[in-house]
Amino acid sequence: MKIDILTLFPNMFDGFLTESIIKRAINNKLVTVAIHNFRDFSDDPHSSVDDSPYGGGAGMVLMPQPIFDCVESLKTEKSKVILLTPSGVPYKQKKAYELSQEEHLIIICGHYEGFDERITSLADMEISIGDYVLTGGEVPAMVLADSIIRLIPGVINERSHIEDSFNENYLLDYPTYTRPSDFRGMKVPEILLSGNHAEISKWRYNKSVKRTQERRPDLLK
Ligand code: ADE
Repeated sequence: MKIDILTLFPNMFDGFLTESIIKRAINNKLVTVAIHNFRDFSDDPHSSVDDSPYGGGAGMVLMPQPIFDCVESLKTEKSKVILLTPSGVPYKQKKAYELSQEEHLIIICGHYEGFDERITSLADMEISIGDYVLTGGEVPAMVLADSIIRLIPGVINERSHIEDSFNENYLLDYPTYTRPSDFRGMKVPEILLSGNHAEISKWRYNKSVKRTQERRPDLLK
């Protein structure tokens, strides 16, 4: 898979791309991630990328030209173009699975007060990562890229994502423990030390259901 990310703040991605599982996925050539500063595509003499909104109002609005030219330089018939905005469709694990099957993603990070509405005509989908407003689409782009890359076959042990919260059965994860079996008087549940795998599976399933009922009853409908 190839992921192209359009941003005005390329340095924000440095740590994301050079640590841990994402770094390993890139080194193992399971994914290619390229960061593009769309200011480089501005045909304005001062390399402007934004201006005040027609009709008045606060803040600056991203202009269409640099983003159109940058997307058009990258796009092929196989590309899916994603625009990140708090007004987008809420992002869910199911969408991460779908996007992990694609060959080429182009992710556009908005910034400032917003973007010229005509930019939406470039996008196959508009996505929001949650009901809160961030300073720009960079953190959402990392959220998308991270959740997608970890699902690419070979990036992590497949079992890890089969057992994830929000997988097909829509239950939250059961509690997990590691050494020591007694930490400051807080003991690991006996059943997990029993070696009885059938009973352990049943216990875990029940804990998942209980936790989901308590915390996210909306997932059980
Ligand atoms: N840009 C700013 N806030 C955002 C959000 N919640 N989701 C996606 N893009 C955003």
